[in-house]
Amino acid sequence: MLKIASIVGARPQFIKIAPLIHTIQNYNNIDHLIIHTGQHYDYEMSQVFFEELELKTPNYHLGVGSENHGYQTGEMLKRIEEILISEKPHVVIVYGDTNSTLAGALAAVKLHIPVAHIEAGLRSFNKKMPEEINRILTDHCSDILFCPTKNAVNNLYKEGFTNIINNGELINETFINNYSLSINHLPIVINVGDIMYESVLLYFKLAEKKSNILKKLGLINKKYYLITLHRAENTENTFRFKNIWEALNIIAQMGTKIIFPIHPRTSKLINSLHLKAHSNLILIKPVSYLDMLMLEANAQKILTDSGGVQKEAFFFKIPCITLREETEWIETITSGWNILVGADIQKIIKAANSFYGCFNKSLHFYGDAQTSKKIIYILLKFKGLLSKNFAIQLLTK
Ligand code: UD1
Ligand code: UDP
Repeated sequence: MLKIASIVGARPQFIKIAPLIHTIQNYNNIDHLIIHTGQHYDYEMSQVFFEELELKTPNYHLGVGSENHGYQTGEMLKRIEEILISEKPHVVIVYGDTNSTLAGALAAVKLHIPVAHIEAGLRSFNKKMPEEINRILTDHCSDILFCPTKNAVNNLYKEGFTNIINNGELINETFINNYSLSINHLPIVINVGDIMYESVLLYFKLAEKKSNILKKLGLINKKYYLITLHRAENTENTFRFKNIWEALNIIAQMGTKIIFPIHPRTSKLINSLHLKAHSNLILIKPVSYLDMLMLEANAQKILTDSGGVQKEAFFFKIPCITLREETEWIETITSGWNILVGADIQKIIKAANSFYGCFNKSLHFYGDAQTSKKIIYILLKFKGLLSKNFAIQLLTK
């Protein structure tokens, strides 16, 4: 029996863990513990994902909630450590780049429990971002670094990771046949593709069947823009936020409907600044994942500072305008499908009016949506429980 403990806590992590939970359900030789730190706690930031995506209820809910970074991460670290000591998992999986990711990785590595990091190797090269610190530290605590792209692998190589499996190419059956993993090889860097790409493919058909968000908001395909905004650099800097707000209102005034599911930290800021929105700028609560997929897929353009939403815009081939100075998802930029405009009013308006993206359909960076199976296979192999033949069936199923 392979015992895995997954640490999650923030919205994008519930979406990243979803394919893994569903794949693991096919195995009776895996015990998967889920530890929810409680970093996100509003119904629409947490529980809605467990219900809608039919995710197993977390075994532990730590209820840490919101605090300053040190306090929040420290509380998580203390509480995760206690659980890991009593549960003794063979491996701890952490996801993405939040404070929950860092706390999980630190708690495990200090207990000498192997750490597997999903979405390893991403870099914005901006250490003012809390996420960049979380990514770097988590990667350097990790034993198995599951990268979503070749660029992510290259970033790790430049930081001194030398055990790059399959030359950084997406792992496939040939690799599985020929590679014999041993504990002496750790830490290892493996390109397994992007787990959020798998989530989109897993849930989009369901979204088309179940979501009625377009009807509810009276939206017509390609006749509205979608925006999300929550990153610290935009919400802790009032100057940047007011610029973005002004640009959005000007775009709305020019006649375009803009749908804005607001993250709670952004909603608090809008209220505290007493900002008023034009009637075409439609502010709504955060939406569920299925609703979000429908809003994204049918939008004319997407504006965002979210990591996940930039990628989803790329998957759906919707032009993306990124309200940041840099991004870790550089493929979306180099392929011409995403543009960085920061918080500059004129740049935002210009992109909203004239950026259409130039997507080369042959470009594909994010793997084959088999990421969860590859991760599980590697972990099982790591535990020495899976025969090669079974592994191949798993990947080709
Ligand atoms: C966190 C992650 C960020 C990720 C984002 C996903 C860190 C440092 N940041 O940012 O990388 O992109 O999650 O959404 O881990 N709040 C609520 N209710 C909630 C959750 C938050 O009201 O359920 C409010 C609180 O006022 C809180 C603020 O939002 O102080 C920020 O929450 P926090 O989890 O600290 O950071 P996020 O901005 O959500
Ligand atoms: N998302 C959602 N509802 C929303 C906004 C975002 O389900 O109202 C999803 C989105 O589709 C993506 C993920 O949340 O899968 C991105 O999370 P977020 O933007 O909070 O964090 P980031 O990716 O920037 O870390």
